[in-house]
Amino acid sequence: MAFPITRLRRLRRSPELRRIVRQTRLSPDDFILPLFVCPGKGVEQPVGSMPGVAQMSVDRIVETAKQVYDEGVPALILFGLPETKDAIGSSSWQDDGIVQRALHALAKHVPKLLRIVDVCFCEYTDHGHCGVLHGHEVDNDATLPNLARQAVSLARAGADIIAPSDMMDGRVAAIRAALDAEGFAQTPILAYAAKFASGFYGPFREAAGSTPSFGDRRAYQMDPANGREALHEIALDVEEGADMIMVKPALPYLDVIAAARRRFPQPLVAYHVSGEYAMLKAAAQNGWLDYNRVLMESLVAIRRAGADMIITYGARDAPRLLDQGWEE
Ligand code: PBG
Repeated sequence: MAFPITRLRRLRRSPELRRIVRQTRLSPDDFILPLFVCPGKGVEQPVGSMPGVAQMSVDRIVETAKQVYDEGVPALILFGLPETKDAIGSSSWQDDGIVQRALHALAKHVPKLLRIVDVCFCEYTDHGHCGVLHGHEVDNDATLPNLARQAVSLARAGADIIAPSDMMDGRVAAIRAALDAEGFAQTPILAYAAKFASGFYGPFREAAGSTPSFGDRRAYQMDPANGREALHEIALDVEEGADMIMVKPALPYLDVIAAARRRFPQPLVAYHVSGEYAMLKAAAQNGWLDYNRVLMESLVAIRRAGADMIITYGARDAPRLLDQGWEE
């Protein structure tokens, strides 16, 4: 039935009509907040390229986590800035390491806020790559036992969900086997399954101190051109035992999110990454975009494409905006 019988504008005329026909909804349940934990006490060091984001010592992380929980956000994902770095990233698997200490404190003071941990080496190696080097290449197989070791240490410290982001082949199976062997058969794995080698991670590397000292990550993270390969990556991680899967970044890869949604029944997470957030903030600071509006539009688009949950630096802004009746 065409115009004038059909007039799609009829259902757009008021906030009330738009509300009942809205096809995608956001809720605080959808968001996961990334936090950067650093040594010290009372430290809150703003990240220049990410207004509103700071590196925080454990005590400040706990205070923030309490607020985040009260705001209705169900989960955090933690990244660590360790005291020391070496060639293999051994400070990542010390039971008194920086993220481990944060996990203990969070488990004690904010037990119901889910603690997701990023498992990788770029923040812990002195060369900034995501594993053990062999010459100028990251040695996949030599990195696997270290990933397993880091994951077990984090599970022991109280991580609720283990999220490997390194992009080594076979890491999910290696981590699953190690967790099971050490008594953590019930700890789920959220695999950064389709993680692209993206320029949008730039601000994160400032926040996490993880810029590679030479080269880039294109030999282990995915080529942005490869959509079908992303489905292959996800299928392998699922076969190896991933309980949840991730596509990262989010907005430039909505097609991959949509394809993954159709193909895999597992809970699907999208990572709205540092550069995606920084773009919105930078344009807003110049008066060129309305941050609140473009944040919410970005998040609803990511959910519309098929993501169940979104890791976003806007995870504290979005629930506040929803509470203020944003969608109306
Ligand atoms: C660690 C890791 C990165 C991000 C999440 N985990 C950086 C990278 O791969 O270089 C990026 C997150 C963001 O940009 O917000 N490997």
